[in-house]
Amino acid sequence: MKLLVINGPNLNMLGIREPNIYGRETYADLLKYIGDICEQKGIEVEFFQSNHEGSIIDRIQEAYQKSDALLINPGGYTHTSVAIPDAIKAVAIPTVEVHLSDVSQREDFRKISYVSYVAAKTIYGKGFEGYREAIDFLEDLLNK
Ligand code: DQA
Repeated sequence: MKLLVINGPNLNMLGIREPNIYGRETYADLLKYIGDICEQKGIEVEFFQSNHEGSIIDRIQEAYQKSDALLINPGGYTHTSVAIPDAIKAVAIPTVEVHLSDVSQREDFRKISYVSYVAAKTIYGKGFEGYREAIDFLEDLLNK
């Protein structure tokens, strides 16, 4: 399986930003965590992080017919972007949406996710573990 992992705006600030919500582990720690899981499972993984909506859309489009699965934490764009889910639909790559924090228990505006309309599954509130769960889910989905 060729997996593309996209992290959206401010996720590069992990470890610094609101550690009471997102923890003290850094973005580099997250990449290591995912990279180790993928290595154990023999999954070919690519990472992309951007603070720009258009760059995220460009990267999703680039994945057309190249990546088998997409794991995305769209950050704040989760709650505002129609164009990101449109891009996911356009490339028709099986997608899981992950959020580190429990968005269901935070501000009301975080309860809306446009990406969830196109994601096969949405996982939130499990920290790094949510990324593992997403990888397991995508693996099962593709092996069906
Ligand atoms: C987030 C939740 C979003 O509401 C927020 O804007 C983020 C991170 C999460 O991982 O919990 O940037 O996607």
